[in-house]
Amino acid sequence: MKEDILKVLLTQQQLAQKVKELGEQITKDYQGKKLLLVSVLKGSVIFMADLMRSIDTYCQIDFLNVSSYGSGTKTSGTVKIIKDLDIDIRGYDVLIVEDILDSGMTLSYIKKILMERQPNSIKICTLLDKPERRQVTDVKADYKGFVIPDEFVVGYGLDFDETYRNLPYLGALKPEVYTV
Ligand code: IMP
Ligand code: MG
Repeated sequence: MKEDILKVLLTQQQLAQKVKELGEQITKDYQGKKLLLVSVLKGSVIFMADLMRSIDTYCQIDFLNVSSYGSGTKTSGTVKIIKDLDIDIRGYDVLIVEDILDSGMTLSYIKKILMERQPNSIKICTLLDKPERRQVTDVKADYKGFVIPDEFVVGYGLDFDETYRNLPYLGALKPEVYTV
């Protein structure tokens, strides 16, 4: 698997340090609130697992799965719910936990449908942001790990064709891996 990686973009140490900082900020901001972390499956599971353990205040978790991509690297432009939340979010301070903000379509859609359920507040925490790729302008991250260039990345939960999620760091694939 590792032989398919062209270069390492973010090391395990860099990721761990950033997650710690985000957790500290969230801990401060959500004191006395009814925090619900909503992980967007599957890409954010590793980030979610690390982030929740760096948050030192009361919180609950839930999971949501939407589809916006086919199996490749390009968006299909359509978003639909595949697995909905278990919890009724009314009155909760929802923090959506996402792996990457790319075109923005996924997060824009998720935020819109969750707002309709009348949570107390709703914010977005994304590990990665690719601003060059943005197509939807009404979505922004309230918490953001790293801004990265327009390059397809894998690892730390992010996949190419459902593979490479278990890489412990964030890397770029060799072009031949996704062009064949
Ligand atoms: P958006 O709707 O275009 O913002 O799509 C965001 C979703 O696309 C993320 O949750 C990822 O699952 C996927 N995605 C976007 N860019 C990448 C990438 O570079 N590597 C892996 N997945 C990506
Ligand atoms: Mg995803």
